[in-house]
Amino acid sequence: MSNATLTLDPAFTIGTVDPRLFGSFVEHLGRCVYTGVFEPGHPAADEHGLRRDVLELVRELGVTVVRYPGGNFVNGYRWEDGVGPERPVRLDPAWRSIEPNAFGLGEFMTWTRRAGVLPMLGVNLGTRGVQEACDLLEYANHPGGTALSELRVAHGALEPYGIRMWCLGNEMDGPWQIGHKTAAEYGRLAAETARAMRMIDPDLELVACGSSGAGMPTFGAWEATVLEEAYDQVDYISLHAYYEPLGGDLETFLASGAMMETYIEDAIATCDHMRARLKRDKRIHLAFDEYGIWYMSRQPSEPPAEWEHAPRLLEEHYSVLDAVVVGSLLIALLRHADRVKIACLAQLVNVIAPIVTEPGGRAWRQTIFHPFAQAARYGRGEVLRVEPVSPLAGDVPALHATAVLGDDATLTLFAVNRSRSDALELAATVRAFGAPRILEHSVLADPDLDARNTADNPNRVRPHPNGTSAIGDGTLHAILPPVSWNVIRLDIG
Ligand code: AHR
Repeated sequence: MSNATLTLDPAFTIGTVDPRLFGSFVEHLGRCVYTGVFEPGHPAADEHGLRRDVLELVRELGVTVVRYPGGNFVNGYRWEDGVGPERPVRLDPAWRSIEPNAFGLGEFMTWTRRAGVLPMLGVNLGTRGVQEACDLLEYANHPGGTALSELRVAHGALEPYGIRMWCLGNEMDGPWQIGHKTAAEYGRLAAETARAMRMIDPDLELVACGSSGAGMPTFGAWEATVLEEAYDQVDYISLHAYYEPLGGDLETFLASGAMMETYIEDAIATCDHMRARLKRDKRIHLAFDEYGIWYMSRQPSEPPAEWEHAPRLLEEHYSVLDAVVVGSLLIALLRHADRVKIACLAQLVNVIAPIVTEPGGRAWRQTIFHPFAQAARYGRGEVLRVEPVSPLAGDVPALHATAVLGDDATLTLFAVNRSRSDALELAATVRAFGAPRILEHSVLADPDLDARNTADNPNRVRPHPNGTSAIGDGTLHAILPPVSWNVIRLDIG
């Protein structure tokens, strides 16, 4: 057992959590859409083919915003294929799949309403440009009386969709991307697209593509050049990151939250550097619109030989260890709630996802479902500045933590113990809150770090409200087991 300390005080805050921090992502990739959210003929499907069992889990997960339709997919996508009665079958070169276009914008918007989430729509800046983005916006948001808005009405959507959040392409820095560009080419296209879109609908929030990861050789320079072109036209720059235990290095994998924090801080530094250079008042915020765990190094290096519809791609099966790391990623996001306003766990169903389905069968929760659901539920309010002190686990402190002061007179401490060998005996000073009472200490941990949920045993891994904690003399004492995700809720009323 090792000791750890921290202090919680309402005088020291970071910022208010934007509910959109708890977003996710649905891409036309593998079985995320087809047999994931959409499966006409499934016993749980509604009249639109939307799986009600999945919708129920999405609501339980607490997702607030969903990015769609990609991802790499978007940069070869013709949005017109997915609306109206004619749905051409196309090749999707990004994932070497057959795209039947049975699910498109209208189905997605119906799904968002049923799921109770906000849409965040990507436009194709790979094979397309300003005109097609404007056409899509007119179709989606213009009330009526024009060719494209009347087309939407003719397709059955009488009211405009009112989509506010738009992504200007996807991962345009990546050489794998259809229509990959240099930073200067992309920055200019993003600026021009944004300018034209705002002429149609001034009330938009626009996200320019940042780097596809902190390890990209152009990271930093890419953001600076893109913002040089597009600073005045966009509101956010995107960040993407996927983590995995490369070479079986669990210590570094458990430090993923720390790497995410460094990435966020470096992106903020670049945005603020451009703010100073361009002499602007406005600040660019961050949309971490893809993050998660992806065992990319285990993926086949070659794309599938055959063109298939809805192949099983990127279907990761998550463990206890993965869930604790996802908890740490959520802590990292909350600790930067002043600048990260939107974040999307990638993805939502089947593809590197918290929810899994079987075609014709059941839907169930992966291990990573739980930390997300708890953070989305209890991580609402003011984030407190928390400076944990603990021994190291590898190169980073064993304790990773944040705390959120809710407006319902509760204080929630989210804490991950990264140590694989030692429990942490935490002493958290809470004197500034008077005499708080412990409502719950829930723990997700397991002696078997590799334990997973399955269709037959879907609740093998989940949080248990049996954490050891006590409060007295202005200090909360809690035991955080090795490799654990802890949620400690206090009544401060
Ligand atoms: O989420 C899977 C893929 O990861 C997305 O299509 C792409 O944007 C990223 O590289």
